[in-house]
Amino acid sequence: MSDDADRSGFVIAVDGPAASGKGTIALRLGAEFGLPVLDTGLLYRCVGVLMQKAGENLEDHDAAAAAAILLTADQLDDPALRTRAAGEAASRVAVHPSVRDALLEFQRTFAGQEGGAVLDGRDIGTVIAPQAQAKLFVTAEPGVRAQRRWSQLKLQGERLTLDDVVADIRRRDERDGARDVAPMRRAPDAVLLDTSEMTIEQAADAARRIVEAARARWLSSR
Ligand code: C5P
Repeated sequence: MSDDADRSGFVIAVDGPAASGKGTIALRLGAEFGLPVLDTGLLYRCVGVLMQKAGENLEDHDAAAAAAILLTADQLDDPALRTRAAGEAASRVAVHPSVRDALLEFQRTFAGQEGGAVLDGRDIGTVIAPQAQAKLFVTAEPGVRAQRRWSQLKLQGERLTLDDVVADIRRRDERDGARDVAPMRRAPDAVLLDTSEMTIEQAADAARRIVEAARARWLSSR
């Protein structure tokens, strides 16, 4: 990347299902292109975890929206947000339109910051930042994703079988893809990156090349 290039407003949207590699790819792209990164899944995880701590029912959309409105950026570093239970709670609160509305401005402000940003999630290229200059939809075979997530969760000390993770992934894919508001979808202008057969290095390299091409198009069009 040339230093003299003007980076203002370059937004990278990275969407895809659980354990597709999109989080790692988003972090690598952020480092590569000098952009701040927001893992938007953490917002939904945080709402779910806060509700569970408060003994609220995850199906209670008013309570969920109230938790979402009060959420602050400093709450997103909590390791409790990385657990299997937090992922499941996140996908249950993420179906409420009121929760998605409450989290919209935070994400759009992040995307709109001077210089640009990288956001990863499920609806970045379709709803949060449809104007993003680079869009990727990162995916992998469900079995491959389950294996990856299982290794990750075991390292975190969780006790569970591969079959548990396969069931989790299937349930989340279905819920995230079938909800009425902002379902997980590949934006028509997003480049599909299937990481099933790739190492993380290969996937990050492919993502970088896709974004470099998008950035070159963006710079030449300004
Ligand atoms: O990406 P991660 O697995 O952390 O996301 C947790 C859950 O949060 C997803 O299963 C999905 O239900 C929800 N989510 C969402 N929209 C986003 C990011 C995450 O609905 N932009």
